[in-house]
Amino acid sequence: MKEEKSGFQNVIHNVYNLWCFICLYLLGAYYVIIELNRKFGFINKVKTFDVDSVITNSLEGRVCIITGGGRGIGWETARSLIKKGYHVIVTSSAKPGSQLDALKAKLSPQVDGYSGKLDIWHLELSSLTSVIEFIKKFRGSGLGLNLLINNAGIMFAPFALTEDGFESHLSINYLGHCLLIWAFLPILNETGFKSRNLSRIVNVSSSTHYARNLRLDDLNGLKLYSPYHAYAQSKLAQIMFTFKLHRYLNEKGSYDLVTVNSVHPGVAKTALYEHVWWVQLFPSLASMVFRTPKEGAETVLYAALSPEVDGVGGKYFEDCAIVRASKYSYDESKQEELWSTTRSLLKPWLEQVEINAS
Ligand SMILES: *[C@@H]1O[C@H](CO)[C@@H](O)[C@H](O)[C@H]1NC(C)=O
Ligand SMILES: *[C@@H]1O[C@H](CO)[C@@H](O)[C@H](O)[C@H]1NC(C)=O
Ligand SMILES: *[C@@H]1O[C@H](CO)[C@@H](O)[C@H](O)[C@H]1NC(C)=O
Repeated sequence: MKEEKSGFQNVIHNVYNLWCFICLYLLGAYYVIIELNRKFGFINKVKTFDVDSVITNSLEGRVCIITGGGRGIGWETARSLIKKGYHVIVTSSAKPGSQLDALKAKLSPQVDGYSGKLDIWHLELSSLTSVIEFIKKFRGSGLGLNLLINNAGIMFAPFALTEDGFESHLSINYLGHCLLIWAFLPILNETGFKSRNLSRIVNVSSSTHYARNLRLDDLNGLKLYSPYHAYAQSKLAQIMFTFKLHRYLNEKGSYDLVTVNSVHPGVAKTALYEHVWWVQLFPSLASMVFRTPKEGAETVLYAALSPEVDGVGGKYFEDCAIVRASKYSYDESKQEELWSTTRSLLKPWLEQVEINAS
């Protein structure tokens, strides 16, 4: 991939990238209308979720892990949960030591007076070794797990391979979370039993998944790479994995006290959009169109806490309502293929945390 490319290959590459760009921006334009409608309600009024009015009891004693919860939507979600009494473990790629301490100092005062608890643990999703360390640390802590929110992600990054040899969107947005999920299913299930409340996995995905299909023969984009495709593909993979995981959880003798859903949080003004050209060019326009991270957290919290979602699994949510994901995402044979490809890609690491990868 990194060798000299012929002029012809370059042309193909650029045309492909332009095509992916157009697909995503056309979809983006549609979602700008959705966001404006949400603000001004000229098409319909969208549903919102106010945690404080719906959840009136204390959720003390419950535990949640949120990946990438140090800022944006993840942090707003964490705050709401801590306010309700949750013990929240936020993961951050900040380096252990001074960087992580600085983040702790920045976040902690904001949750003073809340009844729950905040911990910040180092997790580098681009490194499966780091994911393994995190899993071992959590298992060693003896904590239960009621809620796993897979929120961390990168968007539109240039081509790069991680230390494990995976394309970075695929690794960070998808594979690292798959490993976490498989490793934590037994704990989620057991906690579901003990707390007599189903445990939940919430996947923060994205409407961009509508724009692309999987390229299962080249998931790493080694043959042809576009950051637009890579991002959309990783989000589509999450959703399809969620559908398949839901079926798996419903099999006889499976982890039946766990449910899993994906959500599109809406287009919120977070660091994720820092590489989007028009956001850089017209920041005030972006502020007008986008929702705040707090509003972005609403659908995530809805999927995490709402009694309406109790027992509901394998769904895709936008604005606190179940919507249909892309047609492609419901293709069960593609889901199965993705599932088994994922298991074989992750086999060496699954074995390190004693999960049968067959
Ligand atoms: C969410 O979905 C699947 C599991 O259902 C997981 O593999 C994927 O990486 C998750 N990640 C995020 C960021 O949502
Ligand atoms: C589930 O949790 C809620 C909120 O904490 C609680 O009111 C309810 O009683 C629990 N369900 C069971 C079956 O204990
Ligand atoms: C999930 O928990 C229930 C209740 O303890 C148990 O019956 C079931 O076997 C567990 N699932 C798995 C796969 O361990």
